[in-house]
Amino acid sequence: MRKAFIAGNWKMNMTAKTGSEFIKQIAPLVKDADCDVAFCVPAILIPAMTEAAKGTNIAIGAENVHWEKSGAFTGEISSDMLKEYGVKYAIIGHSERRQYFGETDEGVNKRTLAALAAGITPIVCVGETLSQRKSGDTENVVRRQLEEGLKDIDDITKIVIAYEPVWAIGTGVVATDEQAEETIAFIRSEIGRIFCPKCAENIIIQYGGSMNASNCKGLMAQPDIDGGLIGGASLTLDFAKIVNYNK
Ligand code: PGA
Repeated sequence: MRKAFIAGNWKMNMTAKTGSEFIKQIAPLVKDADCDVAFCVPAILIPAMTEAAKGTNIAIGAENVHWEKSGAFTGEISSDMLKEYGVKYAIIGHSERRQYFGETDEGVNKRTLAALAAGITPIVCVGETLSQRKSGDTENVVRRQLEEGLKDIDDITKIVIAYEPVWAIGTGVVATDEQAEETIAFIRSEIGRIFCPKCAENIIIQYGGSMNASNCKGLMAQPDIDGGLIGGASLTLDFAKIVNYNK
């Protein structure tokens, strides 16, 4: 049985002050969740958010992680730095990183392996653009992202995959339940093909892209969707409604 996992992605939002206040406000609203709950936050907020989330069921994650432990990589954050604060998850290969910061499948692979080696659960993002979907390339794009991004991983069930169609991120245009299920079922079958059938059964796959309090139930009811990676709606108390989708 796979345990549902709902994670917020704060992106470049909140400050230490507003974020801590928000965590304090939302913690009692998510405390009885049946799923795993996390907020992935900007690196500089990690110390304050870890402190704010102490004693709650909220885990704190990062929004990226570098593949080297230290060195001349201005602006990057290493897994050792994250581990010191008890960071549990790291988003890797988000489409905004790919689109605006030139991140590649090869880099996604290196970051993922580094996170795993440090005991941090990578949330690896894949997904097609609108033009790729329109030209019927969704499966090819996602297959390539999986094959290249997940090379040499020993235990694939130690990662989480987030299927985030780029056209649905921050646009208010959510994938339909059927569209999300179709591609996530495809991802699961690819994990079975590339790794092992048992791995496919056990790996957690989230949907992400304009998921909110009103559309989460339908998405979460799909057999292959195990959770959500939530951007905009993770900045409001509506996030608690998503976490409590089954109540
Ligand atoms: P959104 O972002 O929920 O604001 O569409 C999701 C994401 O980018 O992870």
